[in-house]
Amino acid sequence: MSVSQKTVKVKEEKKELSSQYAKVLEELVNNLNGTGQNLNQKSRGKGKLKSQRLLTSLSDIVETLDQTRNQLQTKVAELAMVLEISQNLTEGLNINRIAGVIAERAISYLQADSAALMLLEDDKQLSLVAAKGLSEHIPKDTRLSVGEGVAGWVAKTGEPILLEAERAGDWDLLKALNREKVKSCICVPLKYEGHTIGVIITTNVINERHFTQDNLQVLQIIGDIAALAIENLKLFKKSQRNFLNTVAALAAAIDAKDAYTRGHSERVSSYAMAIANEMQLPEKDKTSIETAALLHDIGKIGIPDDILEKPSKLTEKEYMVIKMHPYTGAQIIQPIEMLADVLPLVVAHHERFDGTGYLEGAKGKEIPIGARIITVADAFEAMTSERPHRTALDVEQAAKELKEKAGTQFDPEVVDIFLKILERKKALGKQPK
Ligand SMILES: [Fe+2]
Repeated sequence: MSVSQKTVKVKEEKKELSSQYAKVLEELVNNLNGTGQNLNQKSRGKGKLKSQRLLTSLSDIVETLDQTRNQLQTKVAELAMVLEISQNLTEGLNINRIAGVIAERAISYLQADSAALMLLEDDKQLSLVAAKGLSEHIPKDTRLSVGEGVAGWVAKTGEPILLEAERAGDWDLLKALNREKVKSCICVPLKYEGHTIGVIITTNVINERHFTQDNLQVLQIIGDIAALAIENLKLFKKSQRNFLNTVAALAAAIDAKDAYTRGHSERVSSYAMAIANEMQLPEKDKTSIETAALLHDIGKIGIPDDILEKPSKLTEKEYMVIKMHPYTGAQIIQPIEMLADVLPLVVAHHERFDGTGYLEGAKGKEIPIGARIITVADAFEAMTSERPHRTALDVEQAAKELKEKAGTQFDPEVVDIFLKILERKKALGKQPK
């Protein structure tokens, strides 16, 4: 083979190799591209899956957050309701007021037409304590036996109930609702330490709105607040009564020092309370006045018997000792926190309206109203009781004395009120008590 032929052959082989190389390269590239495409497709697929999973998780989180937010909102609303109702309950110190506030709030929070609160008596009967909305037309002396009607059923079972009149069927409870044209009704027990003490019932009559399970839960919370407030009040009243009995025993012991003043403090307390009731003073003030009237002369414990029981006129010095008894009384009472409101009345029970009394010479409205009342009650009791140096005045004579000294020794307004009470008792043929 000639050189030129060889050269041609080599060129052809090179060309062939180049061609084959190019083919392989192309295939390789194609393969690579293919792999790349496949890889891209796979990656896109995985990404999509991942995104979907992520979205699902996010959606779950959002849903959970929504639920948590709703639960929190419900809890906050419930707490706000508890706080608002509790704040309203602290103002009153009687069960009727508590029941009234509870019924009002039940209507407001449940958007109900009416609400009524009934309390159990001797575990046998429910008696109506407060009714608001349409329930106000229910007679105030309404009573139900345990087991009677919807309220009686709840009192008997201790279970809350949500009723829809349109689903009455044969159930007696619902038929009763239909008769009363009630559309929807919730009744929950008032429970204290597991014991049912009453019920609260809300109804929709005109209102087409149907109560829900959420409404039932809200009413149960209101019912729990009511039960707690009512039982706390009962306990408070009980401890107050025990305290007053102790005070009365103490007052009787003071009065017993002198045969002539036996029962004096109790009678003074009775007159003072009659005046305070007539003046419609707040319950808290009346309690202080009752206790102060019982204890007003507690300072006499410090007066020697020979001065206290002296039948003849007292010397100047002896009178000075007598005049110290409101101060001595204050010294005795001061350490007792529960008697903080009573102390100023004991201190001022010998002040005179014109400012000439003792201990401080306070005058007019400077003297607490409770002390102005006790002064009138004390004077009337003393005048109408037998004393070593004089006989008792009759009611008319004592009333005349009070009238004459109204504006000087006594508050004229208090005297007027007391005279009206005496007139009323006289008209009724009763002795003042
Ligand atoms: Fe006195």
